[in-house]
Amino acid sequence: MSVSAVKNAPLSSVLNTFSQPGFKKWKGRSPLNVINPFENLQLRQRMPKCLIVGFAKCGTYALKSFLSLHPNLICAENETQFFSRFYFKGFAWYKRQMPFSSEHQITVEKTPSYAESKLALQRIHAFNSSIKLIVIVRDPVTRLQSSYAHFLARNKDPKLNFTFREWCGDNESIIHKIDYYSHLVNIYGLFDRDQVLVLSEEDLEADPFGVMQQVARFVGLKTAFTKDVFVFNSRKGFYCINTNNSKYKDVTTHIKTDPITGCLKKSKGRSHPNVDKSFLRHLASIALPHNENLFHIINKRFPWTTVEYFETMNS
Ligand code: A3P
Repeated sequence: MSVSAVKNAPLSSVLNTFSQPGFKKWKGRSPLNVINPFENLQLRQRMPKCLIVGFAKCGTYALKSFLSLHPNLICAENETQFFSRFYFKGFAWYKRQMPFSSEHQITVEKTPSYAESKLALQRIHAFNSSIKLIVIVRDPVTRLQSSYAHFLARNKDPKLNFTFREWCGDNESIIHKIDYYSHLVNIYGLFDRDQVLVLSEEDLEADPFGVMQQVARFVGLKTAFTKDVFVFNSRKGFYCINTNNSKYKDVTTHIKTDPITGCLKKSKGRSHPNVDKSFLRHLASIALPHNENLFHIINKRFPWTTVEYFETMNS
């Protein structure tokens, strides 16, 4: 980005440019040392004050991407897995993974596996006991289908050509995959309730604008979105960023979306393979008590599929 381009660009786009991989070479040196267009902004890499800690395949990427539209929120480009896998690299390394931000911005990092590791949660608590945590959940039966679709899309080994039933494994392995409740117990055991926001993929999918407002309130910001920030794309079957709105057109260049449609990449919003309905019914019956425990602990219900729902369908 040239100096004149920097001067004319919207602030959010300048800051996001500094968060792109090409700028990793700054390695902690402020880019202002070189360009110096906004002396008063104090652009630097800052530790996150909010983490998206779970769960994979529950819309974490859409959530992170859409949050980046808020001028006062800036998200780390990659899942650092710092508190789970790379803790040994140290806090200086972690900070270097963060985007350059102004003092008016809150840095957000997302690593969906944090919620599933008690050790990671303990480390997060030791790092900042007042940090804000966002957890996004999804109907566990749909989540399993989403994870299976993800597995099929990535698997290149013909020997691992599992059916959905094989891939899910035995009941113990299924419970491990569908039980949000025990992870929430760990989170609430360490953090105050007002530090934890539990969202659902279903709400994010149906009303991304409403969810963005909820998150803005949760982190103590005013909402900066107008209702026309998202537009439903019937081809994709999801809400996408409204590129017809000049306010958001530019933003799609650094939030990884299709610059024309404003939709997220192909791997987000895949169609799920057809699977045996009686097995889905079985999964729903295993999930039921864990879902009820979750609804109880978070004091909120989600209209997830029930055994009865699958009984109305033909196998
Ligand atoms: P599917 O691809 O199974 O439909 P994650 O980013 O945590 O891996 O979650 C991926 C899921 O995000 C997708 O699962 C999709 O259902 C969901 N999602 C929610 N809102 C979306 C949106 N606006 N565009 C694309 N995917 C979205």
